[in-house]
Amino acid sequence: MKRRDFFKTGLVGFSLPSLTKAKSDVKRNKKKPVIITTHNFPKANAAAVKVLNKYGASMDAAEAACMAVEADEKNSNAGIGSLPDEDGRVTLDSCVMDSNGNCGSVAFLQNIVHPVSVARKIMDDTKHVMLVGKGAKKFAVSKGFRHTNLLTKDSRNAWMKWQKNRVEMTPHDTHDTCATLIQDHNGNISGACTTGGWAYKMHGRVGDSPLIGSGLFIDNNVGGAAATGLGEEVIKSSGSFLVVELMRQGYDPVSACNEALNRIISSYNGNPDFQICYIAISKDGEVGAACLKWAFPHLITKSGITKLKSVKGLLS
Ligand code: GLY
Repeated sequence: MKRRDFFKTGLVGFSLPSLTKAKSDVKRNKKKPVIITTHNFPKANAAAVKVLNKYGASMDAAEAACMAVEADEKNSNAGIGSLPDEDGRVTLDSCVMDSNGNCGSVAFLQNIVHPVSVARKIMDDTKHVMLVGKGAKKFAVSKGFRHTNLLTKDSRNAWMKWQKNRVEMTPHDTHDTCATLIQDHNGNISGACTTGGWAYKMHGRVGDSPLIGSGLFIDNNVGGAAATGLGEEVIKSSGSFLVVELMRQGYDPVSACNEALNRIISSYNGNPDFQICYIAISKDGEVGAACLKWAFPHLITKSGITKLKSVKGLLS
């Protein structure tokens, strides 16, 4: 049977999901911190390791990981140096979620280098979960964040070049979201996610990365998940929430990511023409990743050692 025919039968997926663990069987991993981060952002894992080495909390480690990526001017994916929207404006999305189910989020934020820290402040210091645009900027400035020009020479040049033909690109063509899931020495899981979003997007576009349940979701009693890729499609399927719910049902992290992607494959009759990737961690410290197409590099840190891994796309 050809792959396309296989999907047409409605039997979605390449392998049966492994429902190996009943929820009650899963023991919490303690004392052995674990980090999984989307793509190849070694500075992210290195910054998180520093926090964990001092027995820091998973939320502090996750924030530090995203901050390291945001601060890197050469990185066009998040923070300063992100590729701008079609009007040449850098607009940033980010969120955090901790092991107590608290969360904070910021969207369409301009001129602030560290949206992940603004999201953290929203979580820690306000009664709200999400601030956007001018309100988010006003809040950030009130908390001491400095107004900064985020359009670097490189990102401006890339935008000028794009302007000549204005060819629409997908997030996969242009950028990689940084999302990280971390379990600390106490076994507590937190996550954070930061991005400049879809390069040359419409002004005002917001993706999945600041949306709790789409770009990131944590349930400390089950695990956590985060997404990268075409945010619009992650939003439609509440992707990260779905991955965590599948783990709650007993799927291991890889099978949960696969099943969440298989539902998208199924809704596109076996042939989605975009990329989505998930990372996941379960409370026993097992991590996994999966993607729709091509390959998905990601970084896993265990016992302080970081390794670059890659998974092949389910449709590759
Ligand atoms: N996944 C990032 C975005 O679509 O903005």
